[in-house]
Amino acid sequence: MTATSDTSGLRPRYHFAPRRNWLNDPNGLVHHDGRWHLFFQHNPNGDHWGDMSWGHAVSTDLVTWDERPVAILADLDAEGRPLELVFSGSAVVDGDDLVALYTSVALPSSPDAPGLQTQHLARSADGGETWVKDLSNPVLDRGSTDFRDPKVFRHGDHWVMAAVEAVEHRVVLYASDDLHAWTLLSEFADDEVPDGPWECPDLFPLVVEGSEEVRWVLLVSVLTGASGGGSGMRWWVGDFDGTTFTPEHSDWLDHGRDCYAAVTWNDAPDGRRVLIGWLSNWAYAHDVPSTGWRGAMTMPRDLSLVATASGPRLRQTASPEVAAQEHLDVVLRPGEVAELHEGALRIGYDDATGELVVERAPAAFSELFGSVSRIAVPLVGGVAALEVWLDACSAEVFADDGKVALTFLVLPHTS
Ligand code: FRU
Repeated sequence: MTATSDTSGLRPRYHFAPRRNWLNDPNGLVHHDGRWHLFFQHNPNGDHWGDMSWGHAVSTDLVTWDERPVAILADLDAEGRPLELVFSGSAVVDGDDLVALYTSVALPSSPDAPGLQTQHLARSADGGETWVKDLSNPVLDRGSTDFRDPKVFRHGDHWVMAAVEAVEHRVVLYASDDLHAWTLLSEFADDEVPDGPWECPDLFPLVVEGSEEVRWVLLVSVLTGASGGGSGMRWWVGDFDGTTFTPEHSDWLDHGRDCYAAVTWNDAPDGRRVLIGWLSNWAYAHDVPSTGWRGAMTMPRDLSLVATASGPRLRQTASPEVAAQEHLDVVLRPGEVAELHEGALRIGYDDATGELVVERAPAAFSELFGSVSRIAVPLVGGVAALEVWLDACSAEVFADDGKVALTFLVLPHTS
């Protein structure tokens, strides 16, 4: 990562953050020719959300990131005004090329007259450095102003796309033979998750550890109403028969406050399923007090499923590449409290309820920042054993052997 003149002390050491300007969702995650590509929602012109484009970084080790030139920019009119916003999407390997499928939001757009959201295709023949938008764009148009965030993956002999009808809280699944012509497969909704809008879906198979059993996992980001407050993510485990996803169990993906829009890499080596998310929350993302840059990614995590008495559960562990970074093994007895980041984050265990209690100190920049998160975690041998990863502006906590994750932005000097 390239250093900047930022003096806020918030610039992460091993989490990705852009050299300058704004970052939100990870986009176009694909492993290709030995490199992990991390595209991201980016404003190349300022440190606030706007002029949405795809930034780009690459890594061979998931720890050090080489930020590349902005990859996909908005089309402009004759006077140089943007005709679109380039929203989130994914990338796949097609022959020797990388192909990106992303949402284009037509401009001008306003709350009274929102622009259509359609899915566009761009192709790169040079490893993601330069992109050519397809002349046939859009490749998929539902006439909707809330149809976005396509995640495309290979399934058997064809492509599948998971996207959202965000305001209707639905995941829509499509299939294609050529990435251009798409046919609706099915739709997925869950009345138990009434909050929204729904954003940034992902759908992938995972093996249950220690078995041959393969189950499917669906991820969805939920803009408001998360357990910790503001935005958060749900996961479902279930089955996908090539047409329909049938859920069995659902929960929050992360019980902290700052893991959003997380999706997984396509084509990760060795059958791995590696997740990365945006280390923020729309409740206060715009106000985070960094200088010249704003936004970072979570640490990459390897996902697996573990068998439990009540069915398979998702497990997150620090990706092995990152695991070489220093971390804390925190052992909490009931009633004990660990103080992290100079006390800006306090983790205790409440014996009366059997819950981990994580208290984040309030901060002057947003009254929505301070919080108390609670999540049930069983004691093993009378203690709760936690793995805690600290970086300049974050704490990532894995409990119950990775079945519980809590991610927090922590701003020690601003509280
Ligand atoms: C999620 C999101 C996406 C959208 C992008 C715009 O954080 O709202 O739904 O594509 O951010 O930047």
